[in-house]
Amino acid sequence: MTDDPLSKLAPLTGRINETMKAILDEDANVLGEIAVYNLLGGGKRLRPLIFCLAHGALGGLEDAETLRLASAFEFLHMASLMHDDIVDQADTRRGRPAAHRVYGIPETVMAADYLLAKASLLALAKENFALARIMAEVVSNLSLGELWELKARNKTDLTEAAYFDIILKKTAVLIESVSWSAGVLTGAEPDVLNSLRAYGRRLGLAFQVMDDVLDYRADTSKLGKPVGQDLEEGRITLPFIIARDTLNGSERARLVSIGEKTDPTAGDKLEAGFLVEKAGGLQKSLAAAGRLIDQAVEDLGALPETPEKELLAKLADYTVRRDR
Ligand code: FPP
Ligand code: MG
Repeated sequence: MTDDPLSKLAPLTGRINETMKAILDEDANVLGEIAVYNLLGGGKRLRPLIFCLAHGALGGLEDAETLRLASAFEFLHMASLMHDDIVDQADTRRGRPAAHRVYGIPETVMAADYLLAKASLLALAKENFALARIMAEVVSNLSLGELWELKARNKTDLTEAAYFDIILKKTAVLIESVSWSAGVLTGAEPDVLNSLRAYGRRLGLAFQVMDDVLDYRADTSKLGKPVGQDLEEGRITLPFIIARDTLNGSERARLVSIGEKTDPTAGDKLEAGFLVEKAGGLQKSLAAAGRLIDQAVEDLGALPETPEKELLAKLADYTVRRDR
């Protein structure tokens, strides 16, 4: 599976983008303008794509309502990134100034809240309480995950289990909710629902592990945000944890001392990157992501054979091959 599923899915991505833009245009206002700025910043639209594919794989139609529900998940995601960039004091997102750098922090907080409300309203448009409940749980998990991560800043003794708990909440639960909701909407049986949830959860975990690997090794111009941001912000991620537990003596002590710094220099970050690479932290993290993806593809076994199912598998595979 070497072909790029995203180019194959470009027409569907286009329909999703049009739907999101139309929804925001419905109540054109200053908050919508900030939301549109984020929308136009691009993005892979992974979450709405997964929603549409899982929905289609179970026989659901790709009608206007489906596209609106798919959009709700992207709005949730966008809202979380707008908040996250404020929390992380990030300057750029997707190669452009982050929204709060253009519109201001208070305005961007309000626009993100507006997107959150919009997502709930879209879910409830057809009185879909099950979906609204799933989304509320996601928002609560996202907030908890981000808070845990803040508490864990510069804590160089963070365990692998604690790391996975954090990324489950801050990233995987949202992707899990996407595939799960598609199953709920099509009235899928419990075993299929469980498989869909497991697929989304594992894909989400692998996606974040990959994100954390790219933070050490990606090309900044492709990534659209500076590399080395995690260490800059005191985030202890899987490549660091693996290296910490592999290195010995002075090298281990040096890596730990850099991880503890609240204001590491460019030289510190370069050195940490070198130590992480040398200890196999990146390679082993990639292998962990690969195993999660293999399991995620196996999870799809409960779904009928359809082109959509094949694309879900390809999207999972793409997650660990991407360079941005
Ligand atoms: C990105 O992580 C951040 C997240 C995936 C979750 C953000 C969640 C919140 C800010 C909680 C509040 C959310 C809502 C919807 C109320 P990262 O900083 O590691 O990734 P990055 O490098 O792309 O910024
Ligand atoms: Mg961030």
